[in-house]
Amino acid sequence: MSVASKLAKGIPQSLLEELRSSGGTLEHEILHKLSHLPAMAEVQPRKRVLEMPEYHPPLAGRNALRLDFNENTIAPSPRVLAKMREITAETLTIYPERQAVEEIVAQAHGLTAEQVLLTNGVDEAIHLMACAFLDEGDEALICTPTFFMYDVSVAMMTSGLVKVQCDDSFEFPFERFLDAITPRTKLIIVASPNNPTGSTISREHLLAIAEAAPQAVLMVDEAYYHFHGDSVMSDVGSIANIIVARTFSKAYGLANLRAGMLCGPKRLIDFVRKVSSPYNVNGVALAVLPEAVADQEYLNSYTTLIHQGRERVQETCKQWGIRTWPSAANFVLMDIGAKHKLLVDAMRRRGVLLRDRSADPGCDGYVRITIGSEQQVTAGLDALRASLDEIQWTPAESVLAQGRTAKGERDYE
Ligand SMILES: Cc1ncc(COP(=O)(O)O)c(C=O)c1O
Repeated sequence: MSVASKLAKGIPQSLLEELRSSGGTLEHEILHKLSHLPAMAEVQPRKRVLEMPEYHPPLAGRNALRLDFNENTIAPSPRVLAKMREITAETLTIYPERQAVEEIVAQAHGLTAEQVLLTNGVDEAIHLMACAFLDEGDEALICTPTFFMYDVSVAMMTSGLVKVQCDDSFEFPFERFLDAITPRTKLIIVASPNNPTGSTISREHLLAIAEAAPQAVLMVDEAYYHFHGDSVMSDVGSIANIIVARTFSKAYGLANLRAGMLCGPKRLIDFVRKVSSPYNVNGVALAVLPEAVADQEYLNSYTTLIHQGRERVQETCKQWGIRTWPSAANFVLMDIGAKHKLLVDAMRRRGVLLRDRSADPGCDGYVRITIGSEQQVTAGLDALRASLDEIQWTPAESVLAQGRTAKGERDYE
């Protein structure tokens, strides 16, 4: 008796007919599958977990001038460091208490504690937003190129990620974005300033998006807010479907402590709080956050430094014939063209890390440089000049790129 005949009892009639007419091919296939049964019997995650992309930022070997991750490249406020030194051994034995710090941070932003959820960085905030608001089949809407963690967290919950690609100006495609909203849109994420482009979207346009999609939450990722200054934070009390995300990783210089926050109407924040662990933010971060938000003087001096450095980098790029885009963040995107990888490698050999964004949609040949202190900007530009010479880069390679158009969907690195 053939395997097909033995299996036939448990096989639906239609499949049985297919099996008979396959002339043995299907039987062979079944045998092959059966031979892999132990592997098939292994535990499998949810379908969405199998299908979601992975994010592996190039973190290894960063003992160099870090102009690659848009971190603060100097140090946090001295008040933060002083507070950290007060932390006792016993403090580390206690579960972290988030609520008291939420009250302080909320007050510093003109909000109530109920309108604020502290998170383990904005990365976790994005993850929690996807968990709280997306079911399989729902749509989430983003504008690309943008921060890759939106893809990851959305894909964990639904296959319905809708991407609206910017053109090569990287200006926010407001009309096309509005057109992409459907009754199934449940979550909209917009970074302003955006990463990796540095572009922004106006408050008026953000409010119009929120109004056009009352069934969706609009999450405005203001990770780079301090380098820009425009915000919709003052709207979270009056608009029912806007949540603002802020990070302590950039201007505050606390990337290693992993702290961010979501600010929005109590009703929405309650849902997100529900899916969050009560101990998601560590006690060291909680101890220093009140100092960080209170030290406006530090923030002002750091952002002034970034504005000056950004201006210098853009001006120098212009002189050297490298196309850049207007940036409201602590980085500048440079159009290097075909030699993008050669440049990043040459810079690394000189001890300066840049981030090749070529794999981002519409970013072929583009490399991002983070703005640091005056000295770091000087070192970065010196290395950039030497590296460009080494790879025999000419302005034509950037100018040529102006003929390129946004390429749409690509794999990220
Ligand atoms: C737009 C944007 N949002 C969020 C983050 C992540 O912030 P956090 O360090 O708070 O997780 C980044 C980091 O690069 C970013 O560029």
